[in-house]
Amino acid sequence: MTTARTAVIDTHGLSKRFGGVLAVDQVSFTVEPGQVFGFLGPNGSGKTTTIGMLMGIIRPTAGSFRLFGAGAPRELLAARARVGATLETPNFHPHLSGRDNLGIAAAIKGVGAARIEECLEIVGLRDRGKHRFRTYSLGMKQRLALAATMLNDPELVVLDEPANGLDPQGMKEVRDIIRILADRGKTIFLSSHLLWEVERMCTHVAIVRKGRIMASGTVAEVVASETAALLRADDTDALVAALEDYDGAISVRATGDGVLVGLASDDLAALNRHLAGLGIHLSHLARQRRSLEDAFMELTRDDGAESMTEIATGVDS
Ligand SMILES: Nc1ncnc2c1ncn2[C@@H]1O[C@H](COP(=O)(O)OP(=O)(O)O)[C@@H](O)[C@H]1O
Ligand SMILES: [Mg+2]
Repeated sequence: MTTARTAVIDTHGLSKRFGGVLAVDQVSFTVEPGQVFGFLGPNGSGKTTTIGMLMGIIRPTAGSFRLFGAGAPRELLAARARVGATLETPNFHPHLSGRDNLGIAAAIKGVGAARIEECLEIVGLRDRGKHRFRTYSLGMKQRLALAATMLNDPELVVLDEPANGLDPQGMKEVRDIIRILADRGKTIFLSSHLLWEVERMCTHVAIVRKGRIMASGTVAEVVASETAALLRADDTDALVAALEDYDGAISVRATGDGVLVGLASDDLAALNRHLAGLGIHLSHLARQRRSLEDAFMELTRDDGAESMTEIATGVDS
């Protein structure tokens, strides 16, 4: 037995350009065995593109990655057999039962019938397995997709926005399944634009914004390292625009009181110099105690008020 554990995912300067858009910009991170790793960022920050590159669906423009230590194309094929991924809800047949839908997926993967029952059990769908897929709630559909992902008993489970579109109950069910998988020793890599969810589900997190990693580490480290500041200037719109372009800004939000910015580093002087260089002179600059709620609101700002209310009422522990 070797003493050094091989990382499950290891990326180095991974980048993807789509025409003029640098969707993923020099992304480097490591996921160790047994971690529940959250890839957290607002919509459009490059999460799905990154997952697509790991799964071999999108070819990187630059950089490299390894899965279970494998980097060469041939080795990667074998490594991907140890991965279960849901990039989107699979094409389940609406008129077939959940169990029969899994049966089709199992046949494709060459997996036996006993495993279908085990997977239905993991996602809590054994009792509903005989019902038609079209009678399932969105949460149940998501759970069936998770069951399909688990069929080949993967060591690494990759989930792209598993909580997306779910109501609080559905989110709790997904969270419970992720916990079951983690307890069984699976390594989990999930993307999310919900800080709240990542904080509750994950052991480790990387915050990504505009394709770049702003912060990474254990959830506690990242929460502790982020600085927030409240800024005021004559022209609030110009201030917001300048902050959104500032590389060190993780989140930017205009409040009645000023503009609240989450920063990857503690260097407020550098921020002030940057703004002064753009001709923006601050009338107020004060460090704030980091507010999770503020970061959460910022990261979910594309969602509209309705879903935020749903999530806010979804607190169960
Ligand atoms: N196939 C594509 N062609 C052109 N641009 C793309 C393509 N896929 C993604 N993008 C762009 O890349 C950026 C990152 O997208 P994506 O990885 O889907 O972000 P996320 O999953 O974090 O919401 C976005 O600006 C998006 O418009
Ligand atoms: Mg996405």
